[in-house]
Amino acid sequence: MDHFDYVDGVLHAEDVPLPAIAAQVGTPVYVYSRATLTRHARVFRDALSILPSVRIAFAVKSNPNLAVLKVLAAEGYGADVVSGGELERALAAGMDPDGVVFSGVGKTAAELERALLAGIGQFNLESEEEGLELAEIAVRLGKTARCALRVNPDVDAGTHGKISTGKAENKFGVPFDRAGAIYARLAQTPGLSMRALALHIGSQLSRLEPLEAAFTKVGGLMRDIRAAGHAVTHMDLGGGVGVPYKAGDVFPQPDEYAAMVQRVTRDWDVTLMFEPGRVITGNTGVLVTEVVRVKEGVGSPWVVVDAAMNDLARPALYDAWHDFAAVAPRGPRMTANIVGPICESSDTFAMARDIDAVERGDLAVFRTAGAYGATMANTYNSRPLVPEVMVDGAKWAVVADRIDPATILAAERVPEWLA
Ligand code: LLP
Repeated sequence: MDHFDYVDGVLHAEDVPLPAIAAQVGTPVYVYSRATLTRHARVFRDALSILPSVRIAFAVKSNPNLAVLKVLAAEGYGADVVSGGELERALAAGMDPDGVVFSGVGKTAAELERALLAGIGQFNLESEEEGLELAEIAVRLGKTARCALRVNPDVDAGTHGKISTGKAENKFGVPFDRAGAIYARLAQTPGLSMRALALHIGSQLSRLEPLEAAFTKVGGLMRDIRAAGHAVTHMDLGGGVGVPYKAGDVFPQPDEYAAMVQRVTRDWDVTLMFEPGRVITGNTGVLVTEVVRVKEGVGSPWVVVDAAMNDLARPALYDAWHDFAAVAPRGPRMTANIVGPICESSDTFAMARDIDAVERGDLAVFRTAGAYGATMANTYNSRPLVPEVMVDGAKWAVVADRIDPATILAAERVPEWLA
């Protein structure tokens, strides 16, 4: 469910016609719907309310825009961050440091120190080495770091290989069979307060079974750790719930997810933590683009749009599908290849796709672009960094400027010895 609908034949974000935004901001541009964001945040939160004690940390990486974080902070969300930059964003958005969880295999000493000083709620340690390094910093600063140990449960998430994280061969977490011993050692290390196990097996999961298998496995480990005399008061179940990108795709609903979690964790007696990203932000955004030209091909015609793989990387990286729709459909349909202007063949959004017939100058959108869209944008081919807009009813505002190539060029230097 989203708030991008046709009114009198023109696609709107809530009450705002997309051509009005394109006319003022230009294209390509990401457009977010605040009502959709709020709705998704509430549906997920309300679904989890059947569980006794819950904390939700939004996976900032899926959409780190400050305005997005503000909306989620107001809905009671904390933040799952994976870098110093994401931590600063979460704090700038007014998120309570206590609701911040810090994940990632490569947290630097400087990042660990900054997060400790900021008083974040939990470090999700991905190795014993990281735990010992954090402990030293904490002792030096006279602080205690509340920690989870991320465990690699060796479960196949059944998603794209590049976004699977819970198999033994993936870099994440500690090996399942060593986790108990590592937890025990870290629990006795001054400066650390071990309180949880954490897991995250992958993203864009279309089925609940792999999650259930992983939760069950890690639940058993939790019992063993407790039996060895160590406290486990929290369990961080990660993110990963997928969303449909294609009409007709069926994905687990938040209430089905919550019911599964309730079944598995019934006797755990912990505060459950969650790190959803895509399920909150995926549907909340579209990428608006203009057709630059339609070029004849050997097979289907090439619809060349002014958005490219630098603006929306998912199709190039993961062969991901994003629905393509004309902003003001003319009526007929066509079969076409949709591509961007970048000079490599991976800059392809769709091949031989049945789409609304479009012509040069038409506006169109890639849907379900609110998660892992703008956040993965770059300036390849010296293209501008794509701007972002948020709509709220009949109001809208630019929430991230277009960064033009001249600004980027101004940050570059030619050393004297080249001049
Ligand atoms: N927690 C951890 C530790 C994660 O690594 C991730 C995502 C999440 C939570 C949130 O997962 P979600 O609920 O959004 O599935 N760029 C890729 C997705 C990468 C996901 C990375 N980790 C894409 O565009 O599909």
